[in-house]
Amino acid sequence: MSFVPLVFSGVQPTGNLHLGNYLGAIKRFVEMQATHDCIYCVVDQHAITVWQDPFELKKQIREVTAAFLAAGIDPVKHIVFNQSQVPEHAELAWVFNCVARMGWLNRMTQFKEKAGKDKENASVGLFAYPTLMAADILVYRATHVPVGEDQKQHLELARDIAQKFNNDFKASIVSNGHDGELGYFPQPEPLTQGPAPRVMSLRDGTKKMSKSDPSDYSRINLTDDQDAIAQKVRKARTDSEPLPSEVDGLKERPDADNLVTIYAALASKSRADVLGEFGGSQFSVFKPALADLAVSVLSPINTRMRELMEDPGHIDAVLADGSERAGAIAAKVMGEVKDIVGFLRSRKS
Ligand code: AMP
Ligand code: TRP
Repeated sequence: MSFVPLVFSGVQPTGNLHLGNYLGAIKRFVEMQATHDCIYCVVDQHAITVWQDPFELKKQIREVTAAFLAAGIDPVKHIVFNQSQVPEHAELAWVFNCVARMGWLNRMTQFKEKAGKDKENASVGLFAYPTLMAADILVYRATHVPVGEDQKQHLELARDIAQKFNNDFKASIVSNGHDGELGYFPQPEPLTQGPAPRVMSLRDGTKKMSKSDPSDYSRINLTDDQDAIAQKVRKARTDSEPLPSEVDGLKERPDADNLVTIYAALASKSRADVLGEFGGSQFSVFKPALADLAVSVLSPINTRMRELMEDPGHIDAVLADGSERAGAIAAKVMGEVKDIVGFLRSRKS
């Protein structure tokens, strides 16, 4: 016996969707559809762990949904929805808050980064964020999670939570008719081996490309038009050496490495192939080629996103349909979790 393979992933509607989100996550989401059943979620409850303007939030939820659809996610064959429309995520997260240990959450580097110096003033939600993320995945008993590298630690925590739940409740899991050895929850596997699991800032190749970087020149946004993309690539920081012919020559050259990695990921080639073509070239040659490639990949997505954003009613209907189908799976799992934990089921479950 084993778990049915199922893909789950989420993106926060916190504005400024960028090339890192696309190459590290959304492009992989699209690819996984060919081989797996997939559930893709706009994680609005995660977004409010830091302040979100309510008027902007609605727009950003629709914008991430538009990006999913524009990139090629099929909301009919697969499921696209937003988290807050399926209350079982928050419900299971509470159970997981009681399974996870303070010590585990205290080790989360993303909390430390996001809370900064003033930890006392961070929201409780920001601290508990990874238990909600574990619930997102496990409320579908999903087995595979495509994410960028920055999410690896959160996935390890989700695995620890699944394992502790399976151990703590083993007797009850068996008495409720499930396999005690397998456990009730799978150990979800992070899939981070994409071509660009960590896209770096265009202004500093040692820093991650991020939605919250104050410099807009640090990232290519999915909403940027052709001119903006070309200008940002032109202004990207580089060193003064020509490109090396071998991948080894990119060591200690983070800015060059980043641009080559971005080119390779956009072209679906290896870095070695890109250097085979551009080794020995100056950035004055490489950058225009990269700008052209980025525009050719991103502008159809960008155009489609704009069209979709003009019809919010359609986006809302996609989300409503998705949340209904996601909710049906989540309600069944949550009902079983209630039995296992020792709660009495409500009328509707
Ligand atoms: P977020 O915007 O934090 O919700 O991230 C959505 C997805 O994009 C997650 O799977 C992240 O790991 C991924 N991601 C975010 N930034 C980057 C980056 N700079 N490079 C690669 N993947 C990223
Ligand atoms: N924490 C993820 C991020 O910031 C978003 C996320 C929330 C997620 N729930 C998830 C990703 C479940 C994968 C699976 O990028």
